Amino acid sequence: MGPPKIDEIGPWSEVKLDILKRYATEYSKILSNQTKPPFFHLYIDAFAGAGFHLSKTTREMVLGSPLNALLVKPPFREYHLIDLDGDKISGLREMIGDRKDVCLHQGDCNSVLLKEVFPRVLFKDYKRGLCLLDPYGLTLNWTVIQEAGSMQSLDIFINFPIYDITLMSYITTQRESCRSTLHA
Ligand SMILES: C[S@@+](CC[C@H](N)C(=O)[O-])C[C@H]1O[C@@H](n2cnc3c(N)ncnc32)[C@H](O)[C@@H]1O
Repeated sequence: MGPPKIDEIGPWSEVKLDILKRYATEYSKILSNQTKPPFFHLYIDAFAGAGFHLSKTTREMVLGSPLNALLVKPPFREYHLIDLDGDKISGLREMIGDRKDVCLHQGDCNSVLLKEVFPRVLFKDYKRGLCLLDPYGLTLNWTVIQEAGSMQSLDIFINFPIYDITLMSYITTQRESCRSTLHA
């Protein structure tokens, strides 16, 4: 265990964080104002990260998606922050402190979401959730997206790793072409 590794982020990630912050604020405002029926709204950050980053442009600290969400006013009723990296979860725990409305989960979000978090956001219970899926690469299972899409209670933001997908499809095509050449 040690201090979490801090990512350096480019301007595109700062724009992403800003869009998310503004969307989360409007989302929370609208859901908090619902009275007939009242909703219980949650924020879910499946690839939460360390909570802050270093800007490549300004060399200053930039708040990450989970801390931005915790500062949203009016607040979400419950927060679920997940990361595979134990140091990042410990760092978040140290910064956030002991809050009853925040659940920190250390583990693979592909199973944590399906087993522990999504069952807490059921449409019939008037629960609604904003779920951020922000992986580094191709570590998000499609079954999670399929389940989230079928729940009718979740708004999902997926940061689509287009570079990894293009690379994977290139590798697969090359592999197929080698296989056909070898078997010709
Ligand atoms: C791109 S960073 C998240 C940045 C964060 N959303 C933000 O904007 O501040 C991706 C994070 O996902 C975590 N991670 C990678 N695979 C994971 C998995 N299967 N389940 C949960 N977290 C994972 C990494 O440890 C890393 O902290």
